[in-house]
Amino acid sequence: MMIKKIVVVGAGTMGHGIAEVAALSGFKVGLIDISWDFLNRAKDRITESVTRLYEKGQIKEKVEDILGRMEFNTSYDIAKDADFAIEAVPENLELKKNVFKSLDDITPSHTILATNTSSIPISDIAEATKRKDKVIGMHFFNPPVIMKLVEVIPSKYTSDEVTNLTIELAKKMNKIPVKLKYEIPGFVSNRIFIRLLQEACREVENGEGSIEEIDSAARNKLKLPMGLFELADYVGLDVIVDIWDVLVTRGTPDVKCSLYKNKVLEKSLGVKSGKGFYTYPAPGKYMKV
Ligand code: 3HC
Repeated sequence: MMIKKIVVVGAGTMGHGIAEVAALSGFKVGLIDISWDFLNRAKDRITESVTRLYEKGQIKEKVEDILGRMEFNTSYDIAKDADFAIEAVPENLELKKNVFKSLDDITPSHTILATNTSSIPISDIAEATKRKDKVIGMHFFNPPVIMKLVEVIPSKYTSDEVTNLTIELAKKMNKIPVKLKYEIPGFVSNRIFIRLLQEACREVENGEGSIEEIDSAARNKLKLPMGLFELADYVGLDVIVDIWDVLVTRGTPDVKCSLYKNKVLEKSLGVKSGKGFYTYPAPGKYMKV
């Protein structure tokens, strides 16, 4: 099967970045969201990012040619001729099932339907469709345009052909795919990531270290590109709490810690709201801590 057009549903932090990566890789792209506000903001962010890459000489193709391959819409109509769809809406099973039902209704029968979920079982999402063998997890990392890893997660229903096509697609998108044997909770990387965040949180709440000290240790000893609390801000504290809850519900040991939940209750969601553990210049504007 030749993949020519990719549609992405959800134009937020991950969705707009995945759409950008697909367009940079030469695919025709459709980006769908529920409001033109979200779509216009996504278009601005993609334009800014692609322009940055062009000005630094990291891509040769003109910005207008890359954007010319992209269409934006609030209607699923632009998915009618898609060969591959990637859902990147918030971590809510009912919401994801609705998206998959809509995609299942409108896309051709050959279209593969992927989810960028960070923690929800792929099989549960697949059950909303009549093509469970063509539903798969394709988990990107933030920011998708920079991060190389893509986890490819077949569900108990996914065919080998669909898994192989998804691995090939990730490679065509200049990513390094890691295929999971089956859908373990949190897949490979978020299991490790959330355990690190749990321990960091426990240390702060027990008065063993401050947020700044733990972040300094993460940068200067663990050699992570960001501190752990900084990275939690970058990913979104609401997303962290969602993943944490799913992992604990699915058997990962819990750690008593309310730092992240309290921030979410205060509506301090991290970079996206301009404030989390650290303060940023404006909502959505990350600046090195
Ligand atoms: N578009 C284009 N270029 C971008 C960009 C974007 N959106 N974001 C960063 N860049 C470029 C910058 O221009 C810069 O390029 P240069 O080196 O040529 O000048 C380069 O990337 C580095 O960026 P910065 O100098 O601004 O800052 P950093 O060196 O700190 O890098 C970072 C930023 C790449 C985000 C780095 O801090 C990093 O890798 N952080 C960790 C990110 C991470 O772990 N993500 C995974 C989170 S978990 C997840 O997503 C899973 C989910 O399920 C929760």
